[in-house]
Amino acid sequence: MDLGFRGDVVEFYQRYRRGYPDAAVDAVVAEFGLGRSDVVVDLGCGTGQLTVPFARRVRAAVGVDPEPDMLAAARRAADVPNVSWVLGADTDLAALGPAVGPVGAVTIGQALHWMDHERLFRTVHPLVRPGGGVAVFTNGTPLWLQDTEWSRALRGFLEHYLGTRLALTCGTDEHTQQRYADALNAAHFTVRRHLVEYEDHLDVERIIGGALSALPVDKLPADRTAFARALSEVLEPHEPFVERVAVRILTGRR
Ligand SMILES: C[S@@+](CC[C@H](N)C(=O)[O-])C[C@H]1O[C@@H](n2cnc3c(N)ncnc32)[C@H](O)[C@@H]1O
Repeated sequence: MDLGFRGDVVEFYQRYRRGYPDAAVDAVVAEFGLGRSDVVVDLGCGTGQLTVPFARRVRAAVGVDPEPDMLAAARRAADVPNVSWVLGADTDLAALGPAVGPVGAVTIGQALHWMDHERLFRTVHPLVRPGGGVAVFTNGTPLWLQDTEWSRALRGFLEHYLGTRLALTCGTDEHTQQRYADALNAAHFTVRRHLVEYEDHLDVERIIGGALSALPVDKLPADRTAFARALSEVLEPHEPFVERVAVRILTGRR
């Protein structure tokens, strides 16, 4: 499936998508006892939002993504020496796993909704060392689905622009989190939920950049300046743009 994480979308993604708070990464390090002897595989690594912080905490990390432009940007920006960037998908894990040996963790940040999670969890189980496991991260509710006036204004603008309703929560809703937890249980993992919450104060540029980073490349506006001007006008009456960010992490320990 072509998700359109290419071209200019990659630049928007790298520049405007937030990384994960240290507390979220450290919760997984503590849960699996990760350390200097471990390898972590980050599936759907994108531009490396999770791969790099994990690399700083373990022996080596492997970032896996099917989009060459995302991987190239991740590789250019990474300031750590111990990451391998691999072109591939979740379905390549069964072959990759034995090549890197038993891993401490397989992480998935904001990408599981594009994978067959039941099959993936079954594949991961024999690849991780005892006590290690799989960690599913979500990085807050999509900007246009939040319960604030500015978010509703953004949703209205984007729905009009795209000509479609925007309802996909990208795995952040309770129902989907429970489905993932059930599937982890079924694959014989011990499940725990972790939550890291904080408040972020956005500006118009970050909201526009965040919205553009979520569009497939073929849906990017031809006239970015006009798009930004029109969206600014819709947003500005709703300042300040306060966001309550809930980073959810589901861990399945072997
Ligand atoms: C929203 S980005 C998430 C990037 C980063 N992990 C983060 O947390 O910000 C989703 C990434 O998943 C990748 N992806 C989509 N389908 C995938 C699959 N089947 N296997 C691995 N990665 C996939 C996309 O190419 C994209 O780079």
